Amino acid sequence: MTENSRPPTLGGARLVLGVTGSIAAYKAVSLLRALVREGATVDVVMTRAATKFITPLTFEVLSGRPVVTGLFEAHQEMRHLSLPEHADAILVAPATANFLAKAALGIADDPLSTMQLTAHCPLICAPAMDGGMWSHPTVKGHVQTLRARGVIVIDPEEGALASGRLGQGRLAEEERILVGVRSALTPRRDWEGQRLLLSAGPTQEPIDPVRYISNRSSGKMGYAIAEAASNRGAQVVLVSGPTSLSPPQGVEVVPVETAEEMAKHMNTRMSWSTVVVMAAAVADFRPKHAAELKLKKRGKPTTTLDLEQTTDILAALSARRTTQVLVGFAAETHDLLTHAKAKLSSKGLDVIVANDVTRPGGGFGSDQNAATLIERDGRITDLPLKSKRELADDILNAAQRWLTPLKKR
Ligand code: CTP
Repeated sequence: MTENSRPPTLGGARLVLGVTGSIAAYKAVSLLRALVREGATVDVVMTRAATKFITPLTFEVLSGRPVVTGLFEAHQEMRHLSLPEHADAILVAPATANFLAKAALGIADDPLSTMQLTAHCPLICAPAMDGGMWSHPTVKGHVQTLRARGVIVIDPEEGALASGRLGQGRLAEEERILVGVRSALTPRRDWEGQRLLLSAGPTQEPIDPVRYISNRSSGKMGYAIAEAASNRGAQVVLVSGPTSLSPPQGVEVVPVETAEEMAKHMNTRMSWSTVVVMAAAVADFRPKHAAELKLKKRGKPTTTLDLEQTTDILAALSARRTTQVLVGFAAETHDLLTHAKAKLSSKGLDVIVANDVTRPGGGFGSDQNAATLIERDGRITDLPLKSKRELADDILNAAQRWLTPLKKR
């Protein structure tokens, strides 16, 4: 089906399109046309900086409605209050680092930032900025705050930026933004009734009171799955190793440190669950004896740690499973598919998410990842580099194929 013959999916929707002061503001013109073409009524709100890049008249002509640009213009009186009251969603595209900061902190000094404070409808942000800004810890922190609050943030894409540099910061492709708007308006509740038991993050295995063995896992993939499943209606218990992430809304978090604690809590909740996803990077070995006092280096030019294997949590859960769907991860540096297929069968899984952690742009700590899903029946799906949040929905879709119809319990 071509773009033009697709039936309108936003028919009847009332949207606010916020445009902020990024060079990508010109892309909001095409976005507005696409929203209108899909049947939405769109009120455009521009920040002062946005009007330096593109004139309000352009949006006014294409939307057929007056454009809001200031808090105090007489004819625009109170529209910052009335517009969000009637809106089904607010889409801010492009969203600058400045807008994200104001939204995260609750600063209301122009119509758009004021609106997002008074609104009760979903907020979707499609950021665009220079790559260095997008990866700055302050911006990352604000994005995390917004996501934890339920805001849909559509990650910018990699490529050539206005500065001439290469990086992640380009406004997401129009279709990705439209998908975000559609899903905000018609949230999928296809996981209602499911109980997801999920692990995420690294484990820490103590050597002595101040040192431990761990790994580079940030927990982002697992937290993204928790958020996606909860949004789709599942009850979620997230057994999480130490991370710096805020738990998604509505998710019960069980904090743990070691593989043994993780094994204990996963085991206890197993019979409650309908789906188990082990996204945690569990340490495979731990020191045989954790020292009670800090180990001293004096007089020891070298030393040896005596290690023993931790429990393979997933294999143990698999041995006890009744009707649960089991999903595992395989983080590999080489021979990805061979290792992943071997883990799928040795651990008795329905789906394994194989990812090459050496691939640039994805892996540990990144907000994006690429993966290959391998299912029990041999089906293989390659998922190109995308945000972990989007990947999370793909993983849930694959797990869903293996669910037996829900029985009343
Ligand atoms: N896993 C687990 N318990 C462990 C180790 C791993 O439950 N002690 C789970 C992980 O959460 C993941 C899957 O098993 O879902 C595969 O983990 P991975 O580290 O890729 O493989 P391992 O089985 O540890 O094998 P290897 O380290 O040799 O690759």
